[in-house]
Order: sequence, then C-alpha cells, then structure tokens
Amino acid sequence: MFETDVYIRRRRVLLEKMADTAAEGKRGIALFIGNADAPQNYRGNDYKFRQESSFLYFWGIDEPGFAATIDLDNGEECLYGNDVDIDDIIWMGPQPSVSSKAARIGAGKSAPAAVLDTFISHSVSQGRTIHFLPASRYYNTMKISSLLGIPAEDVRKTAPAAGRGKAASASEELVKAVVSMRLIKEECEIEEIDKACEIGYLMHTEARKGCKPGAKEQDIVGRMEGVTLSKGWGVSFTTILSQNGETLHNHSHHQIITPGRLLLVDAGAESNTHYASDFTRTYPCSGKFTQKQRDIYDIVESCNELAFQMAKPGITYRDVHIATARQMLEGLKSLGLVNGDTDTMVSEGIAGLFQPHGLGHNMGIDVHDMEDLGENYVGYDEDQTRASQLGLGSLRMARRLRPGHVITDEPGIYFIPALIADWKKNGTDKGMVNYQKLEEYYDFGGIRLEDDVLITADGARRLGPHRLPIKADDIEEAMRTE
Ligand code: GLY
Repeated sequence: MFETDVYIRRRRVLLEKMADTAAEGKRGIALFIGNADAPQNYRGNDYKFRQESSFLYFWGIDEPGFAATIDLDNGEECLYGNDVDIDDIIWMGPQPSVSSKAARIGAGKSAPAAVLDTFISHSVSQGRTIHFLPASRYYNTMKISSLLGIPAEDVRKTAPAAGRGKAASASEELVKAVVSMRLIKEECEIEEIDKACEIGYLMHTEARKGCKPGAKEQDIVGRMEGVTLSKGWGVSFTTILSQNGETLHNHSHHQIITPGRLLLVDAGAESNTHYASDFTRTYPCSGKFTQKQRDIYDIVESCNELAFQMAKPGITYRDVHIATARQMLEGLKSLGLVNGDTDTMVSEGIAGLFQPHGLGHNMGIDVHDMEDLGENYVGYDEDQTRASQLGLGSLRMARRLRPGHVITDEPGIYFIPALIADWKKNGTDKGMVNYQKLEEYYDFGGIRLEDDVLITADGARRLGPHRLPIKADDIEEAMRTE
C-alpha cells in the first residue's frame, strides 16, 4: 500500500474531475465496489484474493468485502465493511477495525457493509445519480444490480449518466475520469512496475534456461510461476508458453521441447502491490536458430526496436503500429512471402495475416490496464476511430503518447494455417500474398518479442532494471552458456 496522501490526493483529483460533469447539487454519488472472495468449490476454499483494480487505486485496501462512496456534491467519503466477529477471529485471527482501515487511507468515514444498501436506496429515491464503473466480476455485477434495481446486463454497459435521476448503466463520466488518471502513472507506480519487471526478468530467465531438448513445457511453466510467487504476488496473467506459438494465447503446456522448433514464452508477474509486467521472448529449442527462423526473428526484432525508437510524446501509437507493419511487410517481401507496393500492402492491411493483433496495450495495475472499463475509452483519443482491419483493428492502445504512459511493444509474426487458408479462399490479400511460398512455413509456429515501455518527457525507457536478451546472437549466446 502507498502512503495515505497518495489515496487522498487521487480521490481529490477524481472529485475535481467529476465536478466538471454537472452543476453542484446534480453530481450525485461515485460508487466503488471492491471484489469479494470467490469460492473455488466449498465456501471456505476461495481462489486467491485479487482486489478490483480501481478500488485498489482509489482506496488501497487489498481485502475482500469492501465498498466505498464519494458524495460528488459535498465531497463526503465513506468506506463500508464489517468488523470481524468471533467466528472470523477463530479462522483469520484478530483484524484491524474498519475505522482504522478508513483512517489509513484518509477516508472521512466508515460504516458497516449494510449501510451501503440503505445509503444507495435513499440516494436513488431522492433522484440522485449513482456513478459506477462497469463491473468485470459476476459478484460485483450482481451487487450493483441489486443495489440499484437494474438488470445485470446493464451494469456492464457504459453510457453518459449525467442528468439522469437513476443510473441505468455504468457511468461514462466516471470511466473517463478514472481512465484519465490511471493512464498517467505516478512515480510511486513506476517504481512498482519496475519491480514487477524485475520479477518478469527472473521468470523469463528461468524459462530460457529451461528450454532444452527433452524438457517438458509444463515443468518450465511451473518453475517460472514459482519465481513470481517467491518474489511477488504471482503471475499477472495466465502464462503463455508453447512451441505452437502461432496460437496467440496458447495455454497448453503438454509438449516436450523438440530440437528444430521455436518456443514462444509470453508471461509476466505482479508485484506485491499488484502492478504488472508482461514480456515475450521466443527461443530456438535447439539453442540455435535455423536460417529460416532467424530471417523471421530478425524482422520481428527490428520492428520491436523501431517501435521503441519511435515512441515519444506527441506521436500516436497507431502511427507506430503502422510504421512497424510497413517494416514487417518490407522484410516479408525480401523473403518472397508477399509482393506488391508496400504502401498498398500497408493500407490493405496485409500485415494482419502475419500479425493479427495490435502492437501493444496499456499496462499498470492490470496487465491490460483498465480494459474492463472499455477498450476504446482506454486506448483511443476522442478524435480517433478504431479500424476494422485484422491487426490494426485489434490495436488496444492507439493514443497520442504522453509522459507517464506505460505500454507494451510486442510485434509478432505467426504462420496460422487456418487463417492463411481463409485469406486464400476469400481473396483477402488481393493478390499480394505468395501462398506457394507460404506453404513452406505451415509448421513454423510464431515469433513475438515484447518489452514494457514508459513514455518519458522526451522519449521512452524500457521498464525494469535489466533487459532480457533479444538479439538473435545474444539469445544463442545465453542459451549456449546456461
Ligand atoms: N501478454 C498477454 C497479453 O497481452 O494478452
């Protein structure tokens, strides 16, 4: 948890931002529901608890069963939760009181959980607007639905709430205010992301060392995830590790490391305060790339480097994505896999056949930071429209870069037989793809290379105290000596 002042300041800024959304007396209430315990099977056997990220950001409390409100008209705050009783003490031991927790985060008031229900129903009956964020977890969805008497499906929709007596969906005003704050990382957050990146570095080092012919993918995953638990909170998302790297999010780890194949490892860790890291590296299972692998690897590596060199305040990440798509197509053209005018290939979205995802996403408390609040609110400026093309349309962070943004830089090239067949059948490539040559790549797999990047005042910095080896020669050298 950060110092008390951090949470007080964040809520004050939020209050100021929300003051711009309506006249005094009409602003309403901001409602935050923290996560509850989620049973794995019987009620006492819960999944490991993870707090809802915006609740963590504004209220800092990393425990289940809390909620909070800010009265946007008079600034009054209240933290809701129950003090433990004797049954809880038997199982959990003595716990600090809710009022002492409220004091720790500088919240003006605290009250038992049930008071939230009466406060909200009273506020609704007075015609006050209740601003809430779209819930990602089912418990929170049901809780908001029952508090406000609205259908659960509306809890996950977002619309402007200003001027309505009773919110019938999540509040666009609150979403925009929260996104504008969480997008620009504070110094204390960057320190935590650097820690998460250090853990990510250690977990990926474990993966690279474990990538030896005969090893089981599952063993490597187990050792990597052990690192995250011994150094931090655990993984920031389910580890992707597979020799079938052409499947973008491959979570099956049943194969044996086989010489001649490529192993794609996309994994990250959370620091103990829940800030994320997210790295990808791709290794030659024999310890050395074949020429064919290296040709593709070098293209991806050059795109990763180009994105980093271009990333600075003022440029849009959409333009960086397009520049890397162009570089990728030039590289693929030199190998005879595509043909045609590069500008035409870029505008026709030919790169999407090879990289059907965007160049990167925001990262922070969540690995895909705030995407539960709506991808376009998070990743697009008001004057930007999301493309529909495969690849560019999947770009989750397109915004004009600003100091304090934390983003991933993760180009990739994949040979996905089903997608290639689909394009061929539908003529999607407009004659610019050499399908005969592509057949030689059907068993290639995929390569993705990912770093985490902070936008600074005049450029960018790769996060974490060390960078994982990425040049093909450096990868081979590390694998030879480990
Ligand atoms: N690195 C996993 C993801 O971006 O979804």
